[in-house]
Amino acid sequence: MDSLLEPRTFANLASVAGLSRTTLDEHHQLYCGYVKKANTLSDRLTAIQNTPQLANAVDIVNIKGDLCFALAAVRNHEMYFDILGDHKTPIPHILKDRISANFGSMENYLEDLRRTALGTRGWTWTVMDQLTGRLWNLSGQHNGLFPFWDARPILTLDLCDHAYFYDFGHHRADYINCLIDNLNWEKPAEFLTGDAATRRPITMATT
Ligand SMILES: [Fe+2]
Repeated sequence: MDSLLEPRTFANLASVAGLSRTTLDEHHQLYCGYVKKANTLSDRLTAIQNTPQLANAVDIVNIKGDLCFALAAVRNHEMYFDILGDHKTPIPHILKDRISANFGSMENYLEDLRRTALGTRGWTWTVMDQLTGRLWNLSGQHNGLFPFWDARPILTLDLCDHAYFYDFGHHRADYINCLIDNLNWEKPAEFLTGDAATRRPITMATT
């Protein structure tokens, strides 16, 4: 049976300034662990679906909860790694205009992003509400939380200790500024406009 997911590599991370190779490599290994966990849980659920007596209802619900947590970790980390580095291009007008329309200015948006991230111990996202088009900076305290239905993340910041403590200690504001300095704004613009070219196609497991 094919794996549900394959771990990705991110050549763009080589151009990130301010985060050490150790932090980035260890962080990528953590991400690979979530991919492996998601695959294991997916295989387990497939086996249970084919042979129901392998697990009771409580086990099934617990496994599904763990799978959602692992998949959320995979997708959060992939967007986080995607948007860093290779950042020498200016912010695309389509994104800058949307930010200005929602926040008044780029400066207001970045200040709101910084303050949201500073109060977060998990993930901070810029999301677009696909029903209204409104952008929001929101946060979740762990992988299993997601802003709300139909909110499409376009930018993701990892505020977990493992993402920064080796390089920045308790200086979280410096880490957040480092992330913002390393953003490749082309990527959030792609996610905003629905150009999914940089996202991995869904791999359907065969049974
Ligand atoms: Fe992380």
